Amino acid sequence: MVEFVDRSNSDNEKWGGLKKYFGRDDILAFWVADMDFATPLGVQKALKKELSKKAFGYEEIGDDFYEAVINWYKKRHNTVVEKEWIVPIPSVVSALNISAKLWGDNGVLIQPPVYEKFNKAIKLNGVKKVSSPLLKDNGKYKIAYPLPKASVALFCSPQNPTGRVWDKEELEAFAKEAKEQDMIVVSDEIHSDIVYSKTHHPFINFYDKTVLITAVNKTFNVAKFGGGYAIIPNEELRAKFKGFLESLHLSLSLTSAKILEAAYKEEAWVDELIEVLEQNIEYIDKHLTPKIRRSRPEGTYLMWLDFSEFGLSDRELREKMVNEAKLALNSGTNYGKEGHQYMRFNFATSLELVKEAVDRINRVFG
Ligand SMILES: Cc1ncc(COP(=O)(O)O)c(C=O)c1O
Repeated sequence: MVEFVDRSNSDNEKWGGLKKYFGRDDILAFWVADMDFATPLGVQKALKKELSKKAFGYEEIGDDFYEAVINWYKKRHNTVVEKEWIVPIPSVVSALNISAKLWGDNGVLIQPPVYEKFNKAIKLNGVKKVSSPLLKDNGKYKIAYPLPKASVALFCSPQNPTGRVWDKEELEAFAKEAKEQDMIVVSDEIHSDIVYSKTHHPFINFYDKTVLITAVNKTFNVAKFGGGYAIIPNEELRAKFKGFLESLHLSLSLTSAKILEAAYKEEAWVDELIEVLEQNIEYIDKHLTPKIRRSRPEGTYLMWLDFSEFGLSDRELREKMVNEAKLALNSGTNYGKEGHQYMRFNFATSLELVKEAVDRINRVFG
């Protein structure tokens, strides 16, 4: 069962960080991309079992970890993954940074508005940014062509913050252009388990030079433990990526490996989670003022809201949201200048809280 957890009085970033990041804590939190839902009981049990060991010496990542990933991809994504393609990583963001460092010599392509750590990976690693903003076509975000030249692309699939789940044809077209210019594609698929009436297609099915990176953090609300894995079918890319991880002795923690093994047994829970999230989307769609334009997310628990109707600066928009609506949302400009006059709304919480947020937004912006 998907169980709501009141996290308002705990030290998590989303609720506990309100004062620090928004200047007041008498507001409701709809920002950081994690959920106000308990992780499934199977995962809680696995964690309790870990703690009951009392002594915490070395262990190895066993076959169960690799089999869990292989089975998940077969069942949930209709994709065959071979054991040797799977590379444990400390986190998805670390893999973004490693990719920029390893392959970014001739530019790193990003498609804003996009998750802010894509841009940060470029900055932190001193490589050249090649920006190809998504196009907005009748309210729907699309990939812009031709792709500018770059040696690696950081690609977000499904897309944070727009909620797009790329169609097969869109992915084929992207793969074709990437291949033409021999560009490596690092496909961040951390949001791929949460899609609504659509199919997510892993990019490894379209292009040999793909480094797919993902984790159970978002789907099962276990982000504080970190960890993830890459799937790299191409032997040369895999050797380079693995070599870098080994040079710094980086992997994922054994606790995270056990969490993943337990999480990937929770198919029914994920199906229920998707239903719960769909109810929230339904409510927002029906009741949020039409002055705030948006399209229904096809995946993720994030809604990308367009406030341009109000002609406010980004600062005024944020202040109005915090001080009048008393809500914490992410400012659109976190995701690039293309997010001007937008805000990102994380609706992975109870319907009751979603209703309260919609009421407050309508009162101030309706
Ligand atoms: C697209 C995307 N990638 C990566 C992450 C974070 O991944 P991790 O915590 O595993 O580094 C997020 C979190 O919001 C995300 O939206």
